[in-house]
Amino acid sequence: MPKPVLFVTRELPEAAQQRLADLGAEVEVRQHRSEAGLGRQQLLADVSGAQGIICVLDDTVDDELLRAAGQQLRVVSTVSVGYDHVDTQALQAQGVLLGHTPGVLTDATADTTVLLALMAARRAKEALERAATGGGSGFSLMRGLGTQFGGQTLGIVGLGRIGAAVVRRLQPFGFSRVLYAAPRPQTNCAVDAQHVPLDTLLESSDLVCICCPLNPQTAGLFGPQAFARMRSSAILVNTARGAVVDHDALLDALDRRLIAHAALDVTDPEPLPAGHPLLVHPRCTVLPHIGSATEQTRAAMANLAIDNALDGIFARPLKAQVDL
Ligand code: DGY
Repeated sequence: MPKPVLFVTRELPEAAQQRLADLGAEVEVRQHRSEAGLGRQQLLADVSGAQGIICVLDDTVDDELLRAAGQQLRVVSTVSVGYDHVDTQALQAQGVLLGHTPGVLTDATADTTVLLALMAARRAKEALERAATGGGSGFSLMRGLGTQFGGQTLGIVGLGRIGAAVVRRLQPFGFSRVLYAAPRPQTNCAVDAQHVPLDTLLESSDLVCICCPLNPQTAGLFGPQAFARMRSSAILVNTARGAVVDHDALLDALDRRLIAHAALDVTDPEPLPAGHPLLVHPRCTVLPHIGSATEQTRAAMANLAIDNALDGIFARPLKAQVDL
């Protein structure tokens, strides 16, 4: 009997590659062994006949891809916790399961959120540029002064695993209160935070961290109206998905000093084109989506994605299955 086919759209971290190599007895692994994605047409051709697909957030998984794979497809396993690149209705309609990687990237992503919050608060972008050009790179009593979090209000948009981990990391900096906005109050997140309407959070917070998933309710959540409510001294950090923020409205808010600084690990589009005004804005810090980019986390994500794919192929319960 032919072995089921597992198609992998990318090169995976070393330990996961070794695991794939050892799978030979169970499944036929077909893989695009490159860090760069396949072109769409090539992807559509290569998935044909697969029972399982391991993909990343750059791969659009839609009806077209499912049809190109064929009716034998059982599972799509994304090496990410976010799955806004997947058409969940199309999967549901075709009875295909979806696996993702929650939990294993919480710490790394929360760390990146803190990194960006501190970079923004201490105006690190300007300081790095000053140091790099040698201009005024020494001590200055008055230049480039930032702010400290002691006594300030922290606002978290989306208090899931990552949002709660961000609160745990930031609370020791001395925030006097923590607010969060979410569709429902969280009952079991074990952090000391108050559930408030988004407008209240925007009006009251000195540091606003976006930690919610991208979905129809959150797309463009930070638009002109949201920025108009924010404090002119506020810092906005986004480590969730770029499209939660309307980038034109953000640029306008920075230019009109409706907010003090934005620090983004995620953008829309991703990456932003070279020379984009947000990339060169002195009060906007941009990282290239490195939220989960540690050796340990990427290895754990790839491992969980392989588990999910094998579970789906062999009709076992997935370790981390998205409720479609
Ligand atoms: C995810 O897994 O959704 C993250 O954005 C990757 O860092």
